[in-house]
Amino acid sequence: MNIIQNTIQFVKEKLEGAEAGHDWFHIERVWKLSKKIALTEDCNLEVVELSALLHDIADPKFHNGDETVALKISREFLESQNAEEEIIQQVLFIIQNISFKNRNEVPADLPIELKIVQDADRIDAIGAIGVARTFNFGGFKNNLMYHPDIQPKLNMSKEEYKKSNGTTINHFYEKLLLLKDLMNTNEGEKIAEERHQFMLTFLDQFMKEWNVD
Ligand code: ADP
Ligand code: NI
Repeated sequence: MNIIQNTIQFVKEKLEGAEAGHDWFHIERVWKLSKKIALTEDCNLEVVELSALLHDIADPKFHNGDETVALKISREFLESQNAEEEIIQQVLFIIQNISFKNRNEVPADLPIELKIVQDADRIDAIGAIGVARTFNFGGFKNNLMYHPDIQPKLNMSKEEYKKSNGTTINHFYEKLLLLKDLMNTNEGEKIAEERHQFMLTFLDQFMKEWNVD
């Protein structure tokens, strides 16, 4: 068994029972997308794969906002696999800085391995899968699907974003429709384009059906 296979096993077990938008299948899609993008870039594939597999191992949203749990769990696991310290540090840096909500705080010059996994994670947030994940999460939080009087809040701070209990449709305007223009890699941009168009079609149809006249 190599370290990637062991990591897959570890993540599957850890994410047993997770919310459907942040479960093993999300990780598997992000891992596969990361490998696809990595083929087009000069990068360390082991760092890309390990980061993709571990990036949501303990999402702060599901751990009372604690951002250190994921780092601790990942370090312990990677040490148990005798991973090199240099690899561990690169993977932990990616896990710590990949999130959309931290986008205003991270250093400007990011490693290519982070850019790849971030693109993959963002691609899985848009398109048909993005629509499904977003409504699943909204339902999980018991949020409204849509309310005509609640407007999207653009440019929320990290704290506002985390606390936001706006509607699920607003989440498209607050985050999902912005992702296409935040892609780091050419390959990511290409994949994002089609999925972005699908969300626009979905929103159009949703409003048509909401406004029965
Ligand atoms: P990140 O991990 O990049 O900070 P989030 O965890 O906020 O991003 O979002 C991951 C996915 O969870 C989103 O793409 C979306 O599908 C869902 N999600 C997060 N926040 C909301 C929300 N307020 N309403 C609906 N879905 C959400
Ligand atoms: Ni993710």
